Amino acid sequence: MGTKPSDSEHAQRAARTYGAAADHFDDPALGFWDRYGAATVARLPLAPGQRVLDLCCGSGASAVPAARAVGPSGQVTGVDVAEPLLALARDRAAGLPQAEFRLGDATSTGLPGASFDAVICVFGVFFVPGTPAFVAEMWRLVRPGGTLAITTWGPDLWEPGSSIFWSAVGDAEPSLYRSWNPWDEITTPGALKALFTRAGVPSPAAEAVPGEYPLNSPDDFWRIVLGSGYRATADALSPAQQAPGPRPRRHGTPVTQRDRHHHQRGLRHGRKTGPTVGACDHPGSSAAMARGCRYAGGYCQVWRHSKTRT
Ligand SMILES: C[S@@+](CC[C@H](N)C(=O)[O-])C[C@H]1O[C@@H](n2cnc3c(N)ncnc32)[C@H](O)[C@@H]1O
Repeated sequence: MGTKPSDSEHAQRAARTYGAAADHFDDPALGFWDRYGAATVARLPLAPGQRVLDLCCGSGASAVPAARAVGPSGQVTGVDVAEPLLALARDRAAGLPQAEFRLGDATSTGLPGASFDAVICVFGVFFVPGTPAFVAEMWRLVRPGGTLAITTWGPDLWEPGSSIFWSAVGDAEPSLYRSWNPWDEITTPGALKALFTRAGVPSPAAEAVPGEYPLNSPDDFWRIVLGSGYRATADALSPAQQAPGPRPRRHGTPVTQRDRHHHQRGLRHGRKTGPTVGACDHPGSSAAMARGCRYAGGYCQVWRHSKTRT
């Protein structure tokens, strides 16, 4: 595998975005990386001494628990295109010499076929254009009897915050507004199974795992923006557009104390408060969204697929 990121445009974009996001990637507000990385590994039939490849490994959310599962006689190779995240991963894997992290494009590792007991990709598969070819490449690397496990997001990722964020971005800088995210393509077990089938993986199985990720403070959503794929958009806003401040909500109705109380209650209970979203401060900047809006809850779902090769 090469020691430099791929020249492909998508890999360069990912390297820039996630390289910048590394300064917030492991913030406690983004604890979902570890939560779902560990949950993915917990489903694998890993045994001491096995070899695991973690593609799009980020800061090691799945590679580190995998390294613990295979033990000192095993080996885990994490591959990512963002060097600052790999540096975090190496720190976290200190004391686990069976874990190594390499800079490279996950779509073209050049690794020998059938050489891993398990190949993992958590929240990475949708970044690659030509996704079925990427899945086929992952499958090539799985040894007979091994497992390929892919975790993607379910529907409504980070709602209601996500919609508020994009609306606020659209108000501040319409050219940056994005109505679609790459992960919106594969959010159901049916879509994930269809992807595997297109990639030539026989008899795929996929399972929906609903989950909710509560936020502890309104600022938590802004930390998620800075530590995730939304970072590129945040960085494209000017400092003035990012600056927090009270704003009238959309349609000009000011936010009331009652609205705030309602959102704060939702926050304390860590639940989704969809219908109350319209009562948030609707800022002209995304940072103001995080501060002025009594944002009430993260909501994440995971769809997981694993298939044992025969
Ligand atoms: C949403 S993060 C998930 C990271 C990690 N798997 C986790 O769950 O915490 C997506 C990761 O995919 C990486 N990535 C995107 N495209 C890539 C590519 N072509 N090759 C290697 N890594 C890539 C990004 O750099 C980023 O670290």
